[in-house]
Amino acid sequence: MQRYFAAAAERLAPLVNMEPVAVAGLFGPCPNPEMGDFGMPCFPFAKALKKAPAAIAQELAATLGVQAPFVAVTATGPYLNFRIAPASFANDVLNAARDRAKPWGSGTSGAGKTVLVDYSSPNIAKPLAIHHIRSTIIGAALARLYALSGWNVERVNHLGDWGTNFGQLMVSYKKEEAAGKSVDIHELLRLYIRFHQDAADDESLQGEAKAWFVKLEQGDAEARRLWKIFCDESLKSFQALYKKLNVGFDHYIGESFYNDLIDATLQRIADKGLSEMSEGALVVKFPEADNMPPCLLRKQDGSTLYATRDLAAAEYRHGRFGFDKCLYVVANQQELHFRQVFGVLKRMGYAWADGMEHVKFGMLSFGEGVFEDGVRVTGSTRKGRIVFLEDVLEKAKARAKDLILENARDDEVRAGAEALAETIGTGAVIFNEFIQRRMKDVIFTWDRALNLQGDSGPYLQYTHARLSSVLRKYGAALPETIDFSPLATPVELDVVRCIARFPEVVERATRDCEPAMVAEYLLGLSAEFNRFFTDKANHRIIGDDAALTVARVGLTDAVRRVLAVGLGVLGLDAPERM
Ligand code: ARG
Repeated sequence: MQRYFAAAAERLAPLVNMEPVAVAGLFGPCPNPEMGDFGMPCFPFAKALKKAPAAIAQELAATLGVQAPFVAVTATGPYLNFRIAPASFANDVLNAARDRAKPWGSGTSGAGKTVLVDYSSPNIAKPLAIHHIRSTIIGAALARLYALSGWNVERVNHLGDWGTNFGQLMVSYKKEEAAGKSVDIHELLRLYIRFHQDAADDESLQGEAKAWFVKLEQGDAEARRLWKIFCDESLKSFQALYKKLNVGFDHYIGESFYNDLIDATLQRIADKGLSEMSEGALVVKFPEADNMPPCLLRKQDGSTLYATRDLAAAEYRHGRFGFDKCLYVVANQQELHFRQVFGVLKRMGYAWADGMEHVKFGMLSFGEGVFEDGVRVTGSTRKGRIVFLEDVLEKAKARAKDLILENARDDEVRAGAEALAETIGTGAVIFNEFIQRRMKDVIFTWDRALNLQGDSGPYLQYTHARLSSVLRKYGAALPETIDFSPLATPVELDVVRCIARFPEVVERATRDCEPAMVAEYLLGLSAEFNRFFTDKANHRIIGDDAALTVARVGLTDAVRRVLAVGLGVLGLDAPERM
């Protein structure tokens, strides 16, 4: 598209007395494709030219006339619209979309820049539950989006591996260990709940727990040993699930890592005159105008807090990675926490704090029947209930497998049912995170989480598989560059236009930290392609006309590739058969 924007801007610039780049910045897709491939509003010129925008549009259209690569330049109300010569457009777009060396949608806008993405970041000793999925899935997609735009990406898991709850776990663990039991992560959760049950009857246990945590802080060998068991067991379980979800990290740096750095951070804050004592605690107060409660740095008993560790972490991260942006993919509930942390960093005079962003997302709550369905139900932290991620993935897989076996047409699919069920089930769960914008609250129901039909991940995977089968049926290898000029029906050209939009969608999704835009686009692309695919009377893909066949198979291949890139960004596999 850029090439066409540039060509139009070059011609328009002298007529409106603006730099070509500025003119090009005004271009966007026409809301109604009937009007043209792209257009520009004429409001911005009204003042300087002292004319009504509609009159300006009329005049510009007349003066520009029609020149290649455009086949029409028209005024529609206050808009000036351009129609690109279809053959040239199809050739440009589809050959670029099929370029093996450069995935369609990839770009260089992030070249030379670093973004740190902090996501998932669960707390140790609790199994990953459904509410962890949001940060994990959205964060991983954001990391991929940035990478696609050429950024250097540092994917960080800020594990919650410190806090007084470790002392509590140690108290319960010791009792079990005495009985010779080994623990996995579910056992750790049970121990944690057990502690709170026991402590309700026995007040001395809280004191014991505190003593264990103090030992841990002082580096006591036994406390460290237990801590390490808890962390290792937890990581083992987290990583198994990350693998299933196609999620990875470049660094696991837990909160405990910052213990040694905190004093220096607190010193710098004090040196800048920002901290003060308030009711025995060390705090940073904000100016009245900020309308924020003070940020608590150290409690009366000397212990530091989540915020203190985030402050030390921010300084450390900037020192080590020199990021241009640092994204925290964390629930909306932590809004105040991040405003405070960013606020302190800004008051410390760090210009880089402007590159920090809390990428929030809405709340996950539970719909009716969620817990009655044979799911392991347990206390969320102390009370409440959790749905384990592991169970969701298991169930999704089982449901996918039933569906595959019901519908399988060939033995090959049946034989691969197990692996395919995993691909589809996981795909459904992942894609679910993208069926609405991230700030929307989500009500978890099994039907929604395991949706395999309609606007779902499996539907896109199925489309990808169907297109792959067209290519298999065609049999021959497609040439690297194809002459797409035989594509001429309105439906074909709609598909071309839809493919042309993908890079822009990637750009917007990256800028707004909104991978859901990619999901929405992929559903649109599939729908567009299906109009072509199902209209067999007008669009036989493999027919007698060799040139048309190559162009249509090439179009199919281009759509398939865009689907694969898009699904990949979101974290879904793109199966060849289904
Ligand atoms: N462990 C925290 C939680 O479970 C999330 C951490 C997010 N990252 C951060 N740097 N604070 O709520």
